[in-house]
Amino acid sequence: HQLLLLGPPGAGKGTQSTRLAETFDLEHITTGDALRENKDMETEYGTPREYMDAGELVPDGLVNEIVETALAEANGYILDGYPRNLSQVEYLDDIADLSAVVFLNVGEDELLRRLTGRRVDPETGDVYHTEFNMPDDEEIVERLEQRDDDTEEVATERLEVYRENTEPVVEHYRETDELIEVDGEADPDTVFDRIVDAAGLDD
Ligand code: AP5
Ligand code: ZN
Repeated sequence: HQLLLLGPPGAGKGTQSTRLAETFDLEHITTGDALRENKDMETEYGTPREYMDAGELVPDGLVNEIVETALAEANGYILDGYPRNLSQVEYLDDIADLSAVVFLNVGEDELLRRLTGRRVDPETGDVYHTEFNMPDDEEIVERLEQRDDDTEEVATERLEVYRENTEPVVEHYRETDELIEVDGEADPDTVFDRIVDAAGLDD
């Protein structure tokens, strides 16, 4: 499988991609994680942090390069967080052959709730939520951190950037009849089953 998972900030792309990658033995390629790991790297565009902490997109040149390198090394993969604008779509078109494009649809109120409540375990990278999913282990609870861009202010800006730049990407794949739309407003197990069914991953 060569999957693309599209969706607004907080839709559950990371949660579902991680599970899909494990279940179907795919490479999880995520530009968000790759950029977070190199947030203070000096590039010709400045550091990724300057854009990410403001909720803006990191320049295409930097992101395209990350994806091209990762794709060259992967057979089956799931792409999470890319492409995010039409110029990235064009770039991807030349370097990838997608087998399915899945769009995780979640309403705006739920997105803000998911983003502002998200917590990350800095030691394992595991993702939790203050209301929906917390670890039992007190030791883990105490070391959980909030992502820098999950404040209400930056999350709101990210949703705006999504509407302006990434909704046209969703429309593009709708027009080419590639878009498989999945309702992402349910518990993670249910959403997982919906993706597997809709994309025919079990066939
Ligand atoms: P990125 O890391 O890609 O962030 P995003 O797209 O905003 O998406 P998130 O990671 O916030 O949400 P998610 O859909 O993965 O949700 P998750 O599963 O974690 O990008 C960050 C920044 O990097 C960008 O702003 C930009 O600056 C830069 N960047 C990245 N890619 C770029 C690109 N291609 N071009 C340019 N710049 C780029 O879930 C969220 C929360 O909800 C968690 O707490 C989770 O536990 C909970 N949750 C998940 N599913 C459910 C459920 N079904 N029910 C209840 N809670 C749930
Ligand atoms: Zn994510």
